Amino acid sequence: MITPLINVALSAWQLIDNEHALASGAKRKYPDYLSRSMLKVGVIGVGSMGQNHARIYSETAELVGVYDLDRAQCKKVAERFGTKAFDSVEGMLSEVDAVSVCTITSTHHDIAEKAIGAGRGLLVEKPFTGSSETAADLCRKAEREGVTLAAGFVERHNPVVGAAREALQAGRFGKAISFASRRVSSFPARIRDVGVIMDLGIHDVDVLRYLTGEEARSVFALGGRFSNPTYEDHASMLVETKGGLEAYLEVNWLTPMKVRKVSLTCSGGFVQLDYMDQSMEISSSTIKEFDAADAFRVPLEYDVRRVSVRKEEPLRRELEDFLRASETGGRPCAGGEDAWADLKLCEAALQSLRTGKKFTLEG
Ligand SMILES: NC(=O)c1ccc[n+]([C@@H]2O[C@H](COP(=O)([O-])OP(=O)(O)OC[C@H]3O[C@@H](n4cnc5c(N)ncnc54)[C@H](O)[C@@H]3O)[C@@H](O)[C@H]2O)c1
Repeated sequence: MITPLINVALSAWQLIDNEHALASGAKRKYPDYLSRSMLKVGVIGVGSMGQNHARIYSETAELVGVYDLDRAQCKKVAERFGTKAFDSVEGMLSEVDAVSVCTITSTHHDIAEKAIGAGRGLLVEKPFTGSSETAADLCRKAEREGVTLAAGFVERHNPVVGAAREALQAGRFGKAISFASRRVSSFPARIRDVGVIMDLGIHDVDVLRYLTGEEARSVFALGGRFSNPTYEDHASMLVETKGGLEAYLEVNWLTPMKVRKVSLTCSGGFVQLDYMDQSMEISSSTIKEFDAADAFRVPLEYDVRRVSVRKEEPLRRELEDFLRASETGGRPCAGGEDAWADLKLCEAALQSLRTGKKFTLEG
């Protein structure tokens, strides 16, 4: 048995050159949207998530109004933010420049199609349209109409994800070899039109693509229904990317506490991110010179670095990015094509879960 001499070095490592993780006093590299956008915006669907969109727009743009099928909810949210309660999607579209679509997933495509038809920029909440076919349809229509089409993949805007991506791209972690994520919590009773792969898994599918820049070659998924009558409520997905990276994604609605974590094994270190407390830890080890005759004492030195990232609300950053893209005609951080690729991978995972076979993606 080898008994390593463990030397743990704890240090704070500030990524001062990172646009997402600023040391105090460092200049922001991305435009400062603390000043209000001139855009007139609306929110369609103001349940749990839509209310947050309305709150942020009321502080960052001109929130012209909200619309919800549930009239009482619509009026309550409109009053809370001192804005108008519209009677219809069409009524709202005639008065705004851009909208967030935050209704239940099964309605996203039809509402988004109306917004595109009216020439309005739109951000569609994840899991976008819930199907790659309808996502592709929206992408084509948005392209044709020259409309900004953003997808609500909020983890891209988590400062810790931005910091890790930049470090990975700069080669600071070496080559990424494997990715493991865990996103588990108890059942959200309001989600009734998709399973846990589309509802939670798509976040990590998107982060996998965004962080590593790799597309999936194949996926094998296990999972099933434990307490949900209609959809899978637990799943484990094993993804192989075209670049040979292996990823394991675990999701469920059966765990009493909420866990949102991801780790990456890289040639230059082991990187752990916690989405909720926006923390990042990088561990590495080196074997020091040792006496080959004394295999019981291998001097292994561990280095654990905790990266200090400036905490910010990811949804605020997502909406600021959307406003910027709508105003300038630039690309949003997550666009319709990203949603389309994410949905294709989730559909492949569902197919694998149904057939018990590995599913290879086309292209
Ligand atoms: N990005 C994230 O982290 C995140 C978190 C939660 C939810 N979401 C997404 O946001 C969307 C909404 O989820 P939620 O948790 O807010 O659900 P919710 O049930 O709390 O709210 C949905 C609202 O949409 C309204 N609605 C339904 N159909 C409508 C229609 N045709 N026209 C107008 N209003 C309609 C409902 O009355 C309700 O008020 C989902 O797509 C969900 O996946 C994203």
